[in-house]
Amino acid sequence: MLQAQLTIDPAHRVAPVRRRTFGTFVEHLGRCVYTGIYEPGHPTADAEGFRGDVLALTRELGVTTVRYPGGNFVSGYRWEDGVGPRERRPRRLDLAWHTTETNEIGVDEFVRWSRLAGLEPMMAVNLGTRGVAEAVDLLEYCNIPSGTTLSDLRVAGGAKEPHDIRMWCLGNEMDGPWQIGHKTAHEYGRLAAETARAMRMVDPGLELVACGSSGSSMPTFGSWETTVLEETYDLVDHISCHAYYEEKDGDLGGFLACATDMEHFISTVVSIADQVGARLGSGKKISVSFDEWNIWYLSRHQSAPPPPDWPVAPPLLEDHYHLADAVAFGGLLVTLLRHSDRVAAACLAQLVNVIAPIMTEPGGRAWRQTTFHPFAQAARYASGDVLLTEPVGPSYETGEFGQVPVLHAVATHDDRFTTVFAVNRSVTEPLELELDTRALGAVRIAEATTLTHEDVYARNTADDPERVAPRPNTSHRGDPARIVLPPVSWNVIRLARS
Ligand code: AHR
Repeated sequence: MLQAQLTIDPAHRVAPVRRRTFGTFVEHLGRCVYTGIYEPGHPTADAEGFRGDVLALTRELGVTTVRYPGGNFVSGYRWEDGVGPRERRPRRLDLAWHTTETNEIGVDEFVRWSRLAGLEPMMAVNLGTRGVAEAVDLLEYCNIPSGTTLSDLRVAGGAKEPHDIRMWCLGNEMDGPWQIGHKTAHEYGRLAAETARAMRMVDPGLELVACGSSGSSMPTFGSWETTVLEETYDLVDHISCHAYYEEKDGDLGGFLACATDMEHFISTVVSIADQVGARLGSGKKISVSFDEWNIWYLSRHQSAPPPPDWPVAPPLLEDHYHLADAVAFGGLLVTLLRHSDRVAAACLAQLVNVIAPIMTEPGGRAWRQTTFHPFAQAARYASGDVLLTEPVGPSYETGEFGQVPVLHAVATHDDRFTTVFAVNRSVTEPLELELDTRALGAVRIAEATTLTHEDVYARNTADDPERVAPRPNTSHRGDPARIVLPPVSWNVIRLARS
């Protein structure tokens, strides 16, 4: 059996747990909106057509914020299409996903849904086909109480109170050649700066996110961030990172270590931001908004034939996650938490049906994918401060990342509980984890759970929705210092004062 140690000391504080770490993303893409959050006529739908089963699962997932309406979709979106009487809303081609957008759901419905789900909405503006004026118009529509044409239009539509959206993304993945209205770093940096300047004239207190790289393997990674931040530094609060991972060529060990790339991504972007800040003589620090992250079998999507026509809400990007996906995913959550000093927000992309923790059948059931569980547990139990914890233990060789530690872990600490989130990346070996809790005083394990399965490719389905779910881990037998983590597992250990 492998062995590793973890020292937990509340004096080693990284930062408070940021609630916005547990954000997700709803894009007009595939069945995320239509037959995802919204399906009039569904047995659980409310008077507005919002699915009650999806709302309940969203609440259970513990989501705090939700980014909307895209994604690639936003770069061709006209927000005005989605407001006013439904029967007058246009149907449009969505070039990003080769589908037809009916505009039955727009900003007002989305904000109402967010409030029902208890979430903070986070809005993205179109800087692909549009620019400063349309972004300011949307802001006026959303956040001005009344007394202007656009705010009165919102009031007339039934939203008497302003939506008061605080966090705004200045476009989406503008570094990507696939993006409608793709730009060079300089073109985008100038547009983002001028859009931010105008938006701040309406409301200086907004939190604005400039587009960073859509992946650490982009050829412009690094230089993109430098140029964009040189143009926008004083005008924005956050720079975005996006990352998706998948198992490639059967390399399970390498896949389970994909958080290594995320670590490198975050620390590189933070050092670039700090360098730009230093050059500008600014005392301000830019944070990371990791506003798209997930496991996504992108290579399968890229090799699928394009849809023959322009369907409405077809099934797209419906990845069915297995246990190993959930464990790699848990590792990404550990990394986001470990970087809470600089990662101010994160969005799991996406929420329902589209590379999502929640799946639905049109007209039928909704269920939790394997990835639902690490997210829900981290959102529920990460509380208080994130503690600096450096596991001591074995490492293994990966093709992509060199030597990586078998144990990947983080701890959080509040007045009542110290919680360890730990991934055993070994494909074959259980790992005995020794916890050095001396700095905590006398503690006991209040609860320990493990997400694992003898078949690492086991999935949940509508017919077998609990096949992969956290189960109690009793291997500690009451000893707070030793617990066994099975191979390929996500683990949550909650320590309370004894
Ligand atoms: O989340 C799916 C897509 O991934 C988003 O639309 C885009 O921003 C990213 O490339």
